[in-house]
Amino acid sequence: MFDLARIVESGLVAQIDFHRSLGSTNDRAIELGARDEADLPLLVLTERQMAGRGRGSNRWLTEEGALTFSLVLEAPVDRLPTSKWPHVALASGVAIADALAGTVPRAALQLKWPNDVYLNERKTAGILSESVPGWRDRLVVGIGINVNNRMRDSTQTGLRGIATSLIDHDGIARDLTTVLLDVLDELDRRWKELLECGFGMGAVAYRERCLLTGKSITVKQGDGDSIVGLCRGIDDDGRLVIRTPDVEKSLISGTVIDWEK
Ligand code: BTN
Repeated sequence: MFDLARIVESGLVAQIDFHRSLGSTNDRAIELGARDEADLPLLVLTERQMAGRGRGSNRWLTEEGALTFSLVLEAPVDRLPTSKWPHVALASGVAIADALAGTVPRAALQLKWPNDVYLNERKTAGILSESVPGWRDRLVVGIGINVNNRMRDSTQTGLRGIATSLIDHDGIARDLTTVLLDVLDELDRRWKELLECGFGMGAVAYRERCLLTGKSITVKQGDGDSIVGLCRGIDDDGRLVIRTPDVEKSLISGTVIDWEK
């Protein structure tokens, strides 16, 4: 299913850890990334992920034909201090949307803050960026993209009508290696940009694809409280700007649980 030689030849990763089937590529990336001898960027790739993890306590359930992988990346703390880690997932979202736009040119590829990629208003990709206590200068970025797996007919509770895939969109089965390389190429570009220049250009690109700007949204915060207001997009630091009748706030974290459709 994957052309590993082509991935090696691309030079976009230094090491590949490939599996026909795996629990979670992020778990495996955390295991391998803990070893000093790991060559970075390290790609963990599987044809079938059996126990994918999503943000918080969510699971990431996919059938065969989905693209699921994780990268262990070198993140020098002088260029990417911990306060800037939220930018990694945001910039990754931009990279994925830009890459997918090349293969579904007439579709709306948008970003739902902080890091979900939407295709014509339905979720098609998710990102789970993780740091590991005790690690220095390394991060894991896990990515799941619904490519050739049909979500439209999914029997998984809660997914039908909310999630979509590229094949649901236009009926075309894509070469997964090509999609992976397109995404890795954009990630490489955004990652270098982030380390060298900060999130400024990423923020501009994010705003162009922001699904929520100008819409009434509800954001659930870590303390359980919800805020309802008008989304004003993201600021230069990647925070979500929301205007309530009383005040304008910039949120560093939270989950957008509802928005104007
Ligand atoms: C989310 O939308 O909540 C994030 C989903 C991230 C899923 C990907 S699939 C590859 C990698 N391995 C995992 O266990 N999770 C991420």
